[in-house]
Amino acid sequence: VEFASDNTAGVCPEVLDALLAESSRPGPAYGDDPTSKRLGSLVAEAFEHEVAVYPVSTGTAANSLALAATSPPWGGVLCHDEAHVVVDELAAPTVLSGGLTLHRLPGDHGRIDPAALTDVAVRADHGVHTVPFSALSLTQSTEAGTRYTADEIADLAGAAHAAGMVVHMDGARFANAVAATGASPAELSWRAGVDVLCLGATKGGALAAEAVVVFDPGRAPHLDRHRKRTGHLLSKQRLVSAQLLGWLQDDAWLRHADHANAMAARLAEVVTSRRLTLLHPVETNMVFLDLSPEQEAVLGSTGAAYYPRPLRSGRVEARLVTSWSTTVSDIDRFADALDGVGLGDRA
Ligand SMILES: Cc1ncc(COP(=O)(O)O)c(C=O)c1O
Repeated sequence: VEFASDNTAGVCPEVLDALLAESSRPGPAYGDDPTSKRLGSLVAEAFEHEVAVYPVSTGTAANSLALAATSPPWGGVLCHDEAHVVVDELAAPTVLSGGLTLHRLPGDHGRIDPAALTDVAVRADHGVHTVPFSALSLTQSTEAGTRYTADEIADLAGAAHAAGMVVHMDGARFANAVAATGASPAELSWRAGVDVLCLGATKGGALAAEAVVVFDPGRAPHLDRHRKRTGHLLSKQRLVSAQLLGWLQDDAWLRHADHANAMAARLAEVVTSRRLTLLHPVETNMVFLDLSPEQEAVLGSTGAAYYPRPLRSGRVEARLVTSWSTTVSDIDRFADALDGVGLGDRA
């Protein structure tokens, strides 16, 4: 059974249909096309705000370009200790911005501790010697599969703005957070103080499509230039825009995210009813298990695909991710496999 990532899923029908339709005709290059314009209008409608939208094809590019536009090359970006931007992007934000640095903040279950943010925001300033913190980066939903509520975002964003920072959101799984909280896209972004959102569609069912959504152009100037000079302005951008359009239209993005979340909830029920321990609350589409090395070896013997990671405690984290394409029968087969290897006690 496939739980390695939501990246391992294929492309959802809505995106494929939109791609095929766009591909059946020629169109202007470099984003100067009707589909990209329609995408801009649809994102503005979905977020109830004027926006500038920059489609790119990876989340790393989206985050790096957004941060490059919000920060000077000598700026500092605050992010969670486990944030993708600092753990999984091989310093791409530093390279693409010409030098910004990333600074890690603690916090339980993937969420930045507001006290930790306040502490660093008021540290001593040694003038030209000090890295000025220029941006706060929040991941929604978090790397631990939890989500920030609109109030939690507003608290963190308020503190960041008060300290002169811009607020960036890595929304690789933003859709899952919207579906899980029931809050609107606006409530979880600009209304709570987010200035730039990297809206990820790839994990949610696109082929390769992410949109940098700028709510306040004054806080992320020259994004178009950053995108071009790093080689991320696609001549056939309309095919990326078409993916995003197909994904957003008629709320397909939220339906798929809701489904992935429901599958994770079902998966959580399967493991907790066998008395296996969760590392984090299951709030979106990821389930994290806290296993002994022996239990993890047994889990591996089921043949299920997931991400194991050794923990400092000597135990092993197993990350299982559901997607738009996970089925109830996938979860049932996994439950049978657990019973087959005798992992966990049935409650
Ligand atoms: C939180 C988060 N942000 C961004 C990304 C985007 O990564 P990529 O550059 O592989 O598309 C990922 C993918 O794993 C992610 O989990």
